Formats: sequence, C-alpha cells, structure tokens
Amino acid sequence: MSVAPATHVLIMGPQGAGKGTQAALVAPRLDLVHVSTGDLFREVMASGSQLGEEIRGYYDRGALVPDALTVRMLLDRIDQMRREHPALRGALIDGFPRNQAQAEALETALTARGERLVAVISVEAPRQVLIERLSGRLICPNCGATYHREFNPPRVPGVCDVCGSALTQRSDDTPEAVARRLAIYDEQTQPVLAYYERQGLLLSVDGDRPIDEVTTAIVQALATRVD
Ligand code: AP5
Ligand code: MG
Ligand code: ZN
Repeated sequence: MSVAPATHVLIMGPQGAGKGTQAALVAPRLDLVHVSTGDLFREVMASGSQLGEEIRGYYDRGALVPDALTVRMLLDRIDQMRREHPALRGALIDGFPRNQAQAEALETALTARGERLVAVISVEAPRQVLIERLSGRLICPNCGATYHREFNPPRVPGVCDVCGSALTQRSDDTPEAVARRLAIYDEQTQPVLAYYERQGLLLSVDGDRPIDEVTTAIVQALATRVD
C-alpha cells in the first residue's frame, strides 16, 4: 500500500506569540499532527532520563538545545507520526527551526524523503504583550495543554480542563530565561523568516487579537496552501 508523500507546515514567531496555543487548535482542523520541539524536550525532561537532564541544562536557562540533537529528535517524531497516522497529510511543526542551520537541515531531510513544506506561518505580537503572556502562562505537565491566568483561564483555577491534572508554570518562564529566549529569537530565529519569504512560503498573521480570531486568520491563510 502506498502512502501519499507528506506535506508539512511550520508555525514560527517569538516566545509567547501563541504558536503552541494556535497549533493545537489548527492542526486537527487541517488533518495535520502538531509536533513541537519544546514539547518533545519537556517530555524527555519529565521522564527523568540522563538525556532529559542534559536537555535541562540548556532549557531552564532559555538557551537552545544543540542542533544535532534537536534535528534528530524532530525527525524521529515526524517518522513516528507518519507510521501512527498514515492518513494525515503531515505535521504542523512548532518551535523549529530556530536558526539557519536548522532550516537547512530540515530542507535536506525533507528532500531526501520526498516530502516538502507548503507554508510557514509567522505569528507576531508586540514585545510587551509577549512578556505579559509568558508571565501568566500555566501549562499541564501531563497533557501539555496551555492556559493563561487572565487571558485563557482553565474552568477550575489551577486544574487542567482536558485531563484534570494540577497546572504548573514552565521552568523557563523566569524573567532571566525569557529575556535570553527573546534575544536568541531576535538574533538567530527572526532572520530565518526572510529565508522562507524568498521561497514564497511565508504567511504573516497578527497574533495580537483574541485566540479564536487568530485561529480563523491562520486557517484562512492556509486555505490556499493546504487543500
Ligand atoms: P518552546 O516550548 O518552543 O518555547 P518558546 O519558543 O519559548 O515559545 P513559547 O512556547 O514560549 O511560546 P508560544 O508561541 O508557543 O506561546 P503559547 O501558545 O504558549 O521551546 C522551549 C525551549 O526548548 C527553548 O527555549 C529551547 O531551550 C528548547 N527548544 C525548543 N525548540 C528548539 C529548537 N528548534 N532548537 C533548539 N532548542 C529548542 O502562548 C503563551 C501564553 O499566551 C499562554 O499563556 C497562552 O494562553 C497565552 N495566549 C496565547 N495566544 C493568546 C492570545 N491570542 N491572546 C491572549 N493570550 C494568548
Ligand atoms: Mg510553545
Ligand atoms: Zn492536562
């Protein structure tokens, strides 16, 4: 039985723009699987393995995990997703690439597999908005669902709507780590958007609006790329 070659979409943007929030809402509507490198790292850290401890050394201070490890984990997860969901069209990739080397590694790997990117969504919001969002963010350590104390509260304070677990703050949402993450975004990640713009893949979306409006804008922007 042959499986159609996968087509993938990237969702990029600064820390707190709403990549994870939007990817979770958009992916099921477009038959894509949400794959987040940040979520992959949080899973491995939660497992308590030696690899998890190595990752924590980068993650908690807001530094990038080394490219080779990140690329390998992302590609393994895409392969696993293709085996488990052969009927889906591909992945909505959140949090990758963060630099030009990762962008090129992804392109090489997809070409070798006969797969391709069809669009890159860039979600934007002003810096002050990003900082307010990150300082009030709560996540579910069990299922990964994302909330905000004020802007997107759970039905019962401190409890995940999806699975009932106790919500926590992310270990990298400290002021110091947030500042480092945003600086790395400005220096290394933002320039990658121009690379995708030159390829005609970039679709910019204003993320400084209510969550459901941003979702509608992303789905509309992707309508011509993902049929
Ligand atoms: P990752 O987990 O990807 O974190 P990030 O890039 O720092 O981005 P965030 O998850 O903080 O932002 P988001 O845009 O997803 O915002 P969210 O939807 O949660 O990466 C973490 C770390 O892992 C990195 O620092 C690095 O160490 C490592 N890593 C990951 N990928 C890597 C890679 N490729 N290479 C190397 N290292 C890598 O929303 C934020 C808050 O705002 C939430 O509270 C949400 O409820 C709220 N919110 C969202 N949308 C709205 C809205 N429209 N209105 C009001 N509130 C909103
Ligand atoms: Mg995220
Ligand atoms: Zn949960």
